Amino acid sequence: MLIKQAIQIIKLLGLRRAAKMKKRHEKALPLIRGYAATTCFWTLLNVGFWDDLSAAGSLGLADYCATKGFDPHVLGSVCSYLDGIRMVDFDESTGAVRLTKRSRELLAEPRGLFELLYAYEPVFVELEPMLRGQKKYGPDVQRRTRWVGLGSGNLCRQLPYPVMIDMARRHGCKRVLDLGCGDGAFLMELASQAPTISGVGIDLDAPVVQLANQQIAAAGLSARLNAVVGDMFDVTAQSAASFGTVDCLTACDTFHEYLWNGDERVIGLLRALKSAFPKAVMVIGEFCKQSHESLRKRPTAFLEHHLFHQLTNQRIETANRWLEIFHRAGLHIREEKVFDLVGHGYFVVA
Ligand SMILES: C[S@@+](CC[C@H](N)C(=O)[O-])C[C@H]1O[C@@H](n2cnc3c(N)ncnc32)[C@H](O)[C@@H]1O
Repeated sequence: MLIKQAIQIIKLLGLRRAAKMKKRHEKALPLIRGYAATTCFWTLLNVGFWDDLSAAGSLGLADYCATKGFDPHVLGSVCSYLDGIRMVDFDESTGAVRLTKRSRELLAEPRGLFELLYAYEPVFVELEPMLRGQKKYGPDVQRRTRWVGLGSGNLCRQLPYPVMIDMARRHGCKRVLDLGCGDGAFLMELASQAPTISGVGIDLDAPVVQLANQQIAAAGLSARLNAVVGDMFDVTAQSAASFGTVDCLTACDTFHEYLWNGDERVIGLLRALKSAFPKAVMVIGEFCKQSHESLRKRPTAFLEHHLFHQLTNQRIETANRWLEIFHRAGLHIREEKVFDLVGHGYFVVA
């Protein structure tokens, strides 16, 4: 039957043209599907469906929609599509939904990639008005800070936090002030691995601080950790004592947000922090720029990462440039580890 239809098409269009058309459509499909699948993935992540399904093992669509107040037609359509691309097993006759190997894998380490891209989705939605100069990032378009916190936390748990925790422990840290703490993921990892360490996180964004404190409480770590709303640029020698006897400042992927107009702001901040906490070491994790040529050769997720940082006026710098910034801030490099493979570097400075 299908062969018969194919022969008809070939007769109509000619073999060369039909084959070429098919090949070109196949090339477009991963891009089109990436958009549709990612949008469905985000929606189900947002409404808690993936977590509910992971916890329950299997869900009945009708009951689930009734409990949550969801439209069964919409969820059924999404599940049917996701079944087609093997992201769920969906039995339309019974309404039973299950995870597949593919979705279990996507919900493991890559979950953070989806969360971080979702944080920057407003920029992609508003790309055309931004291109036309009708809207600007900042006043008109904002990233979703909750998802910056969640995505960054989940991604950094994989390599950055283990490296930074190892550094903090080897440098004898006992009381940590985490700058730009996001959802508190770093502090929670640190405190759960090092029972003698306590810490406080500071973040500009009130909802993300609230999320951090909720997660800290849920992890049973409130006796040693907390997060407060504040601007790291306002930390002074006078206010330093309010954080306790801090012997370690940490910052994971926070400083690059202030490089857009040159290095001076970060250099000034590092100097001010050094004078507010003269005896503390700083354990810093930062993105390190990869050359465009190396990304063309190995087009990793850093291409998307560089894109949404560029569009939101965040400058990613090379490892050497970071060393220069620390040097110009009057800090000494005690240790450095740069992983070009993942575009991230770790520095202990004092
Ligand atoms: C890319 S996120 C990194 C979050 C976290 N450090 C992590 O490891 O996932 C940067 C964080 O810095 C916070 N931030 C930006 N500017 C800040 C400032 N001036 N003072 C305090 N926090 C700031 C943002 O709100 C955001 O949560």
